[in-house]
Amino acid sequence: MNRRELLSAAALTCVGVNGGVAQAQTSTGLDALARTSGRRFGFAVSSSYADKEPVKSLLRQHAGVVTAENAMKWRSIENLFGVPDYTQADRVAAIAVDLSAQLRGHTLAWHQSTPARLTWATTEVFVREQTSHLQALVSRYRGHIHTWDVLNEVIDADQPTGMRESVLSKLWGADRYPALFELARVADPYAKLAYNDFGLEQDEPWCERRRTALLRMLERWVKRGTPIDVMGLQAHLNMSRKFSADKLLRFFDELRAMGLTLQITELDVSEAQLQGDVAARDAAIAALYRDFTQACLSHPAVEMIVMWNVTDDNSWINRWLQAQRRVDGQPQRPTLFDASGQAKPAFHAVAACMGNAATKFDMKETRHV
Ligand code: XIL
Repeated sequence: MNRRELLSAAALTCVGVNGGVAQAQTSTGLDALARTSGRRFGFAVSSSYADKEPVKSLLRQHAGVVTAENAMKWRSIENLFGVPDYTQADRVAAIAVDLSAQLRGHTLAWHQSTPARLTWATTEVFVREQTSHLQALVSRYRGHIHTWDVLNEVIDADQPTGMRESVLSKLWGADRYPALFELARVADPYAKLAYNDFGLEQDEPWCERRRTALLRMLERWVKRGTPIDVMGLQAHLNMSRKFSADKLLRFFDELRAMGLTLQITELDVSEAQLQGDVAARDAAIAALYRDFTQACLSHPAVEMIVMWNVTDDNSWINRWLQAQRRVDGQPQRPTLFDASGQAKPAFHAVAACMGNAATKFDMKETRHV
């Protein structure tokens, strides 16, 4: 299909979501639509549901990027005796090959996935273990990974330093984070290298403080020549927070000015407090998806959008976040597809924006090899 055919298949404007006017045909894949503006679209998956229907077919139809939801995290790879087992990680890598999709590696260093046995390690032991874990993992998938999330969630705007205090800051050292990128670059010179974090996308004072802390950290890293190519924005959006496209785009401009491309890495929408019946909730959720996607696709540094999970019933929000249960006991509706795999208004909103993206991704050649 050429661009014109894709667009007419989408048959859409970005405007129709609330009024329920335009509906994308679900037969046009989201990745195919994303490609019309030089971008890609995909999902984080676990092999436990990726191989089953309806997810299997949805991936075939819409996925151009695959991230391992958990399988490439250190704690998932290492068994209780500290021995690495890559079976699950290999499965997700095979899914990406099977789909001819780009593979995102997630994540080489994260305080939540550091093995518990290392919590009380000496600095020397920790540095040795984190280094050899990173080198083994990156080398294993060398040449297959489009982008590695090298480091995940290390900012904390409430700390004077702007950096989170954790097992990583304590035992690896917050001022040595750039060394993680240097190690990853040596182990796989073909992969783009990303820093990934949350709480940066919406229009709340605490998000603004996090944006400031992030920009300060990245400025320091870029100044000292850290091999970082990508800012990964998790985009776990929340219906109870405000959104401003203007503020988001100004922030994107600052990231682009540092030479970074932008990837939306874990998109979903929480709606624990949203009132109304399913149709009203779905329409409100679709409107936030539309506003966010439209803003992202109007920026030339945004390279891809990746959803966190595929359908509402495999969303981590319904599986893990007990604290975010709705008071009416209903499951949340955070993704583009309902439990049976049916496209929801959020799908049509995203497809419409993707089919109409006038601004192309224009930072293809920025990898700092
Ligand atoms: C989540 C997974 O979805 C859950 O299955 C797991 O129990 C915890 O981690 N930010 C991240 C992801 O970078 O790795 C997290 O994934 C969601 C928040």
